[in-house]
Formats: sequence, C-alpha cells, structure tokens
Amino acid sequence: MSDPTDRRIVVLLSGRGSNYQALRRAEEAGWLGGEIAAVISDRVQAAGLELARADGIDTVCVARNRYPDREAFEHALAVAIGGYRPRWIALAGFMRVLSPGFVRDHAGRMVNIHPSLLPRHRGLDTHQRVLDAGEREHGASVHFVTPELDGGPVISQVRMTVAPDDSPSALAERLLPLEHRLLPATMALLLHTPVEARDETISIQNQTLARPLELGPDLSDDGRLLGDGGRD
Ligand code: GRF
Repeated sequence: MSDPTDRRIVVLLSGRGSNYQALRRAEEAGWLGGEIAAVISDRVQAAGLELARADGIDTVCVARNRYPDREAFEHALAVAIGGYRPRWIALAGFMRVLSPGFVRDHAGRMVNIHPSLLPRHRGLDTHQRVLDAGEREHGASVHFVTPELDGGPVISQVRMTVAPDDSPSALAERLLPLEHRLLPATMALLLHTPVEARDETISIQNQTLARPLELGPDLSDDGRLLGDGGRD
C-alpha cells in the first residue's frame, strides 16, 4: 500500500485564499490525487483560514507578530508544517520571504505560485510592471522555492494576452482564474508523477525539462502531461 504521507499537501497563505480554494475544489472533484492536510497562515486575519475552516480543513495560525524574530517564527512554522508530514508545501499567496535555512530544510518539496511569467517580474506589483514594460503577454508561474526570491526553477506557466487598454486590476482579474487552473493542475502532476528539481534543472520521469510546461499544450487541466511537454 502506498504511504499516505506521500499524498499530503500543506498550503501556506497570508490572505484571500482563492488559490487554496481552487486546490480544494480539485481535491473534492477527485482528480488532485492528494489531500490538503492543513492550511497554515502567518496572519490571523487571513480570509483563507476561514475558507479552510468552512471546508473542515485543519488550520493553524503562526502569526509573525507573536514571535520576537524571524528565527523563532520560522521555527514555529516548521514545527506546524512538520506535524502534518506533508509531501508538498504549496505557497499560495504566502507573503513572507523565507530564510535560506528554512528553504533548504524544505528543499524539493515547496512550490509557489507567482503572478508573472518568470523569470520576468519577480517580487511585487507584477501587473503594473508588465504594463510599464509595454509587454504584450502576461501570465503566472509555479516554481520550486529556492533561497532566491521567486527565483527557483519553473515547473509550469499559463499565458494570456495583454490588451492595449489593460489596467493592473483588469490584468489581475483575468489572470486569477488562470491561476486557479494552473496551481491544481501542477499539484496534481507533482502528486502522481516523479518530478525533481536539482540545481536549476527540473526533471520529470527522469527527463530534463527544457522549458516550463505550459497549461494547455503541455499540461492538462487535471495535471496530465500532453505531448512531449518540452522534455528532452
Ligand atoms: C495570487 O495572485 C498568487 O499568484 C500570489 O498571491 C495571490 C494570492 O491570491 N502569489 P489568493 O490568496 O490565492 O486569492
């Protein structure tokens, strides 16, 4: 029998929690291939905690302001995560930069969803920055978390076109439903296919990924690989 801890996900969030909810809907629909064991937040007021409670999911709040420094906070966070023995840790709107030590301790099993086509636009205000740069294309990425902010190897992306009259809020509004497809599809892939990150390279079923998987052509909405998916 397979080890149930191989299927557990812990979601970290700081706010609204709509990406958590998309994951949860995929779990309920039966194709995620894993179980959301807990939702953990660094903010007491995070609306995502309420959503998870309403779904009957364990919630833990490790409020940053209850700890004297980052080290104490991260220790408490690691203990909270470790209690669930997750295979995967999904950062879904978790707004805190984690220390290199914490990232190393969870290397290879922590992923983040970021609202840009990485490596373009790491950090905040991605929608505004896409417009400022006059770009015609925008999107979201799911990547392995490494000590460099939004800098880890990218597993998957979703793309959309930027219209000449787009505003940051219009971009955010159009991108969010795409994120809600990308994150569950990527987590489903990670739960049922051997995916590894070593240095800056991702391998899937022992084949190197030459470029991020694109939702649609390479990755189905329920997390299956399509075509050669950019694998060498
Ligand atoms: C998303 O846009 C995600 O890409 C970014 O933070 C936002 C979280 O939204 N990292 P939500 O809390 O999942 O609704």
